[in-house]
Amino acid sequence: DVPGLVDRFGRVAHDLRVSITTACSLRCTYCMPAEGLPLVPRDELLSAREIGRLVGIAVRDLGVREVRFTGGEPLTRADLVDIIALSAAAAPGTPLALTTNGIGLDAKADALAAAGLTRVNVSLDTLDREHFARLTRRDRLPRVLDGIAAAHRAGLGPLKINAVAMRETLHDAPTLLAWAIEHGCRLRFIEQMPLDADKTWVRENMVDAEELLAVLGERFALEPIGRDDPAAPAEEWLVDGGPATVGIIASVTRSFCGACDRTRLTAEGSVRSCLFGDDETDLRGLLRGGADDAEIADRWRAAMWGKKAGHGIDHEDFVRPLRSMGGIGG
Ligand code: GTP
Ligand code: 5AD
Ligand code: SF4
Repeated sequence: DVPGLVDRFGRVAHDLRVSITTACSLRCTYCMPAEGLPLVPRDELLSAREIGRLVGIAVRDLGVREVRFTGGEPLTRADLVDIIALSAAAAPGTPLALTTNGIGLDAKADALAAAGLTRVNVSLDTLDREHFARLTRRDRLPRVLDGIAAAHRAGLGPLKINAVAMRETLHDAPTLLAWAIEHGCRLRFIEQMPLDADKTWVRENMVDAEELLAVLGERFALEPIGRDDPAAPAEEWLVDGGPATVGIIASVTRSFCGACDRTRLTAEGSVRSCLFGDDETDLRGLLRGGADDAEIADRWRAAMWGKKAGHGIDHEDFVRPLRSMGGIGG
């Protein structure tokens, strides 16, 4: 038994999310600025080997049980397959998942599966091509659909689809749900958090779980069945009596921070204990300075001890984090 990643509030992090880039092939308005995030110089990003080493430490020495790679868009990194292969070698048997917008997945799905990737979540907000182009500022919906199909063929399913609930696409939600069910995907809607680079998020304009359920309820009979497990961000509903389900990640109106089991690494190699906590603890310097695994594990434990109780979005003294979602890793 290893002394794991425990915080002052008694939460234990078993789920590692590794951002591997801040670059992206889309510019979703709830996340990125139109011009994209400033390019991070190559040598400031963790290398595939460094990522593999940290994944090994997290699993062997810190009690991490599942690893997810995010971005930015992880498929924009040419060495993603190496990152997966080195992580799989460093942590045999640990589930390795990917959160992606799906662009470029058609070309890489087979190689990723062969390298040891076990699951994929694809972000897809609407099936209306014009709405997609407006929301993501790129006319690339067909490429996302190709990516989803390829991931299924490669055995990476059943896929989860993440859709951020936005006012512009709210009425596309029932069609998206019908499509997901037909294609064997588990759809989850997400309440938008104040993590958009453009800072246009306003609480009053946010589509919340209640409003979304009302729109879905016009077409489907929905029956709440709760969470898959206590630390899962999504609550699930049976659709038309099942077996199909739909999930809602109500990060804002039904915050799940009290059960949070996540620890994060930024693309530059710092521990970030919470999406909403600006303090980051550098591990890259230790890695490159020749530190041993025990020193790195100790610094990581210390970083997690300081994790905030929660995002505090509804508190009057709430301040947005400095980084936007694309810079942290969803
Ligand atoms: P599964 O293991 O497949 O359930 O994945 P996941 O839901 O943990 O990961 P995914 O990357 O698909 O995350 C879905 C969404 O959940 C993200 O886009 C965020 O909006 C939200 N989310 C993930 N982690 C956190 C978190 O620590 N805090 C909050 N508030 N929201 C989170
Ligand atoms: N609020 C909630 N989720 C967001 N994502 C990106 N920006 C936000 C936001 N402001 C989600 C994406 C994707 C994941 C990487 O993060 O839809 O599923
Ligand atoms: Fe890119 Fe994902 Fe951000 Fe959209 S949400 S801009 S796909 S990183």
